[in-house]
Amino acid sequence: MTTDHRLSALRAPPPAYRPLIDSDMGAVAYLERQGFGTPREVLDHYRALFGDEVMRVTDRAGRITGFAAMWPFPQWFGGAPVPSRAIASVVTDPTLRGQGDGTALVAGLLREAADGGAGVAVLYASTRSLYRKMGFAPAGVITAFRTPARALSADRLSAFPRLADSQDTGRLAALRRPLLARSNGMAERTPAMWSLALRDDSRPADVFLLPGPDEDGPAEGYLAVCPPDDRRLVVVDQCVLTPHAARTAAAFLAGYAMQVDWVVWKGAYADPLALGAVDSGTAIEEWEEWLLRVVDVERALSTRGYPAGLSGSVVLDVTDPLLPANNGRFRLDVTNGRAAVRRLDGPGPFDLALSVCALASLFTGHTAPAALSRTHEIISLNDSFLTLLFSGPHPWMPDRF
Ligand SMILES: CC(C)(COP(=O)(O)OP(=O)(O)OC[C@H]1O[C@@H](n2cnc3c(N)ncnc32)[C@H](O)[C@@H]1OP(=O)(O)O)[C@@H](O)C(=O)NCCC(=O)NCCS
Repeated sequence: MTTDHRLSALRAPPPAYRPLIDSDMGAVAYLERQGFGTPREVLDHYRALFGDEVMRVTDRAGRITGFAAMWPFPQWFGGAPVPSRAIASVVTDPTLRGQGDGTALVAGLLREAADGGAGVAVLYASTRSLYRKMGFAPAGVITAFRTPARALSADRLSAFPRLADSQDTGRLAALRRPLLARSNGMAERTPAMWSLALRDDSRPADVFLLPGPDEDGPAEGYLAVCPPDDRRLVVVDQCVLTPHAARTAAAFLAGYAMQVDWVVWKGAYADPLALGAVDSGTAIEEWEEWLLRVVDVERALSTRGYPAGLSGSVVLDVTDPLLPANNGRFRLDVTNGRAAVRRLDGPGPFDLALSVCALASLFTGHTAPAALSRTHEIISLNDSFLTLLFSGPHPWMPDRF
């Protein structure tokens, strides 16, 4: 029976790609169960949280063969938001794997993202071969640190964090905004993303605002902390904007030392809590690369920011077998941290020739041209300017989806 399915799928045209309708849910529940072991109630919870509008399926004559979710996820690079899409839960029918439905599903998502105004799309991959083939490449990391609580600070609290309303995510988003502008890869969260960010599995976090030197003045960050469990304290989300906030955060977390052996939190490579630790013992507990796909070269390059003070021009010659609009030469004229990007006609001189896959790693600053030339067939004639152009804080994000 399975063999019949496979043979007819091989002969058949690719499946249709379309939005989910209510009657698809039974088939989607089966795909999610076989793909990720997701129980029905968990799927229904995500459905209520994210809404049907983010869900897509592949369909062969009324039979649902694949499922994925995709939603807007403005991701900041070089101090500016790039229209992006987050992609999650890509899965196909286990009785039809290897027949092209996964490829058709991801191609549908990428075309829709490009047509819908995105510059890039981002995902976490449990398998890379499909995504590499589709033009994704490693482009940043999610990192979690672990440290003995006492190593964070030897100080008593001198400023006192205030318990905040964890539903007031608008306030947290406003506090966090300067971090987005100073980092590469962090994204604005939808309400559904906030809901996921402020819990550890099913355990909700309490949110504490970090005061500035004037306790009645504006907060200078926040910590979202789950109750201690199994001698671990998990900080599910954190925002530390100033040295004062970093000292308060460290002393506050060290105050749990009687209850926990370890404090765990997600942070950037240059994280203030890790950098400020007063004793050794900090280690990386989690490190995973996320993958990015440039879906619209012109839009991606013109919406991201570039190092202020750098000016000059560069021509990129891009090849993209899947999305033909991305093929060709693009000229970037960079000044005051922004780039005017225009398409050049036909073949001609360039500074950098590369695939859309290599461009993904360069675009975010994850990989400079010198390193890129060891993993991709690129031709770079202006390494030093290109390295400066895409330089900045190492790209990372705290959100896992
Ligand atoms: C990953 C997944 C979506 C691929 O779906 P699919 O229907 O097999 O996809 P395709 O038939 O289009 O194959 C796409 C690529 O996947 C890889 N692939 C497919 N079947 C494979 C297999 N049995 N073993 C190894 N690689 C395989 C190949 O690289 C293939 O590329 P190719 O056609 O050039 O050889 C599917 O295997 C799946 O649902 N896995 C479980 C859930 C999961 O891990 N999802 C990824 C979340 S990030």
